[in-house]
Parts: sequence; structure tokens; C-alpha cells
Amino acid sequence: MKHRRETNQIIAHVTKLSEMAIDRGDYVLSQEEQGRVDQLVEMRLRGVPLQQVLGEVDFLDLKLRLTKDVLIPRQETEILAERIIESIDPGEGKVALDLCTGSGCIGLAVKKAFPQLKVILSDISPMAADIAKGNAELNGLDVEVLVAHLFEELGEVKIDYLFCNPPYIPAHEFAMLDKSVKDHEPSIALLGGSDGLMFYRMIEEDAKNCLNQNAQCFFEIGYNQGEGVKEVFSGAAWTNQRVYPDYASHDRFFFLEFSSLPGVK
Ligand SMILES: C[S@@+](CC[C@H](N)C(=O)[O-])C[C@H]1O[C@@H](n2cnc3c(N)ncnc32)[C@H](O)[C@@H]1O
Repeated sequence: MKHRRETNQIIAHVTKLSEMAIDRGDYVLSQEEQGRVDQLVEMRLRGVPLQQVLGEVDFLDLKLRLTKDVLIPRQETEILAERIIESIDPGEGKVALDLCTGSGCIGLAVKKAFPQLKVILSDISPMAADIAKGNAELNGLDVEVLVAHLFEELGEVKIDYLFCNPPYIPAHEFAMLDKSVKDHEPSIALLGGSDGLMFYRMIEEDAKNCLNQNAQCFFEIGYNQGEGVKEVFSGAAWTNQRVYPDYASHDRFFFLEFSSLPGVK
């Protein structure tokens, strides 16, 4: 059943017809379409994730292109983007940064919800930044895209809303990941150092110079990292730390604010 559904999705993608039309089974593929379908089915049979085979994915109400150079946006990250959209109320002149943006999914979903908000997407991977830029154009969204290690290219800009789904898989868990993830998604998007918390530590250190007072920060975290991130962000500069679970009741989201007490870093 799954195979049939996926084959129909591939045929619908190639022919630009709806899956329902394909399911009726009365459409005859041209030779060229059949060749393309065969090629994509063969990729899928080699274990390439369906989203990479199709080269696109839906994320909330966005259509996003993707390649093997970016993480396939996950359902948890859609929840994160929804929570951010529910939680913020950006006034005039506010700036948001989607750090480790990958396909651009989080920042672009927020930009779509708040067109007046200035949104910056940033990633260390030039390939990811290119994809994020293309996705902004595809969805008619005007954002700035940077290629940078964390906050490095921000210059004087100060951030009011920080969104980040950094690499957070501990090195020792990498081998246990599903083959489709390990073999087909970029390791630079996954590996978060020996305990998975390396990026949160770097961000805690560097963010203090880049955030405006009362900046709101929204992170995705690993399934058991709630206590760990609370510890990382336990300094006096941070307030209102909250860990929220995903639908499987695992730690998944970490929200907090930057209070920037004078003299406190
Ligand atoms: C877990 S993926 C998240 C992608 C996307 N935000 C999402 O939620 O689907 C992490 C991203 O961080 C990027 N990255 C890795 N190291 C980085 C660094 N030092 N500075 C900035 N981005 C980095 C990777 O290229 C990857 O796109």
C-alpha cells in the first residue's frame, strides 16, 4: 500500500496531475514521463528518502525545495514554527533570526505569518543558504540570507526573536540513526558534539552580544535534552526557561528570554 501510494506520488509529481487523478488509473504516461518515473522509483528503491526523490516538501502552508544538502524538515519542526507564530507579536522594526536555517523552513513560515517582520536566515553551508534563498523566492517572501558560522555575519544588527533547530545528535547516537537519515541527510545538519549540546553552549555564549533586551528564543532540542539545555542556559542573563514535549511526550522544544541585566553576561 505504501509502495503504491509513493509510486502515485512520484507519478503525480512527474505529470503534475493530482494523486487522485493518478489513482483512477486511466492516465497513460508518455515515454518521457515513464522514463522519469522509472528513474525516480529506482532512486526510492535505493533508499533515497521520498522528499529528496521529489525534491520538494510541504511545510505548513509553504512549498519548499530540497536536496541532499539540507535536512528534510520534520513534523516536530512544523510544530515549533506553529508555536513561534502563536507566541510572538512583532511590532514595528523587530528583527528575527533563523539560525541553522537549512531549507529555511522555520524563518520562512514565520515570515509568511508576519510579512512586516524583518527575517534573516543563516547557515554555515553555502548550499543550504542557496536552497533557503530559492525557497524564499519560490514562496514570494523577502528575507535576508547569510552564510555564516552562527552569529558571525550579523554585524551590528540586534535580534528580537531567535529561532534555531541546531544539529543536536550526540556523536555516540549517530550510528543508531535510521539508515535513510545516516546515509542520505547531511551529517553537518545532525551532529551536535559528544553529548549533543555543543551548539546550545556556543549559542549561549555568542547570543548575548547579538540579542536585544527581552529577546525571545525558540529552540528545537533532542528527545532527552531538556535538563541539559536548562543547565546550559541557567545563567542570570536568561529567564523564563521552559521545556515542552512533542506528541510522543519527549523533550522537544526549549523556549526562553534574554534579560540582559546590566553587567551580567
Ligand atoms: C538540524 S539542521 C536544521 C535545518 C532547518 N532549520 C530545519 O529545522 O529543518 C541544522 C542546520 O545547521 C547548519 N549548521 C551546522 N553547523 C553550523 C554552524 N556552525 N553555524 C551555522 N549553521 C550550522 C547545518 O548546515 C544545518 O542546515
